[in-house]
Amino acid sequence: MKSTVSRTVTPSATASTTASIAAKPRAARIRPHTDLPTIPNGSPLLLLGRRSDAATEKGVYCPGDLPSPSDPTLMDRARAARDALGDRAVVLGHHYQRDQVIAWADQRGDSFALSRFAATADAEFIIFCGVHFMAESAAILARDDQTVILPDLAAGCSMADMAETRQVVDAWARLERAGVADATVPLTYMNSTADIKAFCGERGGTICTSSNAPRAMRWAFAQMPYGAGKVLFLPDQHLGRNTAVLGLGLDLADCVVYDPWQPDGGLTDEELGAARVILWKGHCSVHARFLPHMVDEAREKLPGIEIIVHPECRHEVAVKADRVGSTGQITKWVEDAPAGARIAIATELNLVKRLADEHRDKDVVFLDDTVCFCATMNRIDLPHLVWVMENLLDGVVVNQVTVDADTRHWARVALDRMLALPGDDRSLSATAIAS
Ligand code: 13P
Ligand code: SF4
Repeated sequence: MKSTVSRTVTPSATASTTASIAAKPRAARIRPHTDLPTIPNGSPLLLLGRRSDAATEKGVYCPGDLPSPSDPTLMDRARAARDALGDRAVVLGHHYQRDQVIAWADQRGDSFALSRFAATADAEFIIFCGVHFMAESAAILARDDQTVILPDLAAGCSMADMAETRQVVDAWARLERAGVADATVPLTYMNSTADIKAFCGERGGTICTSSNAPRAMRWAFAQMPYGAGKVLFLPDQHLGRNTAVLGLGLDLADCVVYDPWQPDGGLTDEELGAARVILWKGHCSVHARFLPHMVDEAREKLPGIEIIVHPECRHEVAVKADRVGSTGQITKWVEDAPAGARIAIATELNLVKRLADEHRDKDVVFLDDTVCFCATMNRIDLPHLVWVMENLLDGVVVNQVTVDADTRHWARVALDRMLALPGDDRSLSATAIAS
């Protein structure tokens, strides 16, 4: 099962739309990245933009002749291309995108909101400004006549790379050997490859995002006789642990960590038998940087401050926070806070900076002292967006993300289960659990 990327020529571009942009003989200069060597799964390192590994989130070659970031006409080119594309394209922007990209987003949101939007979008082209797994999810949910584009194919996700298909298949075999696979429902975070999503769909499991994880985990447990079921949570151990303990009220001791790099996952049959939640040993390199002492220091320095953290943060950080929620929830909490409120946020810096800029009547600060952007989210910039849009106007689809039919079928089963989950979710915050 593989997701692929391709460069195709669309027959639908018209002379009039192309003529509104200065003529650029770029098609001849574009080197299709299918010519480049592909690294098999499990390769230790892949330098961003140097080679291709379409089966994982690892960096891939980004072909083409990009506009220069210092081109003084870049904004005009963006406006002209966006206007000329009109309703044929929709631009989706994840909250972690740079301001220069978010400015062009028709819809901005968290992973859940954007996947919902992709499932109902009408446009011929869905330009996804986010990371690869998000564009893949959009490609799974989109109609066959729609094209999903990721402006820079090197925008992957290190967390998604931490669960490779081969490792997850081995882990399931390990659960079978321990005699617990039949009682286990696999649940993967949206931040995973299409292969892993399909793996879950095929085995009766589903997908969650950080805004519906407790609801999805409750659903997973409900698929088994009461008290008998287990959940294999992929690939983010922190979201899995925070969801199990803060969202569902399970004990920390109910969770074990499966390490794909250890023999037998580093767990005995007895440990697997006793566990309620088997957490995959993966993490987000951005959110794992936040540490408990940062919460203490913020409270000391700024009395009365409210601490809001993303559930990809470590459990030791989440338990010290006032609220734990997805990027969409964080955005809403800041919007709803009264003027004068002091809020420290632990999530990606582009979003925190934007919230601070958009709510100058409130004191919104970043919980960490050091800079903490998501490097791969940041790969999408205005030159890539302009490049993609101008190519579409030339009748050329660059950086299309597609998913093969079999993977798409089972991943769609899992995604549809997620989108059908009923009811409103509960926040992960301790206060919400107590109420
Ligand atoms: P949400 O959009 O679900 O908050 O996830 C954050 C994230 O890490 C996306 O990569
Ligand atoms: Fe992946 Fe973390 Fe970046 Fe999200 S913020 S894309 S989980 S590395």
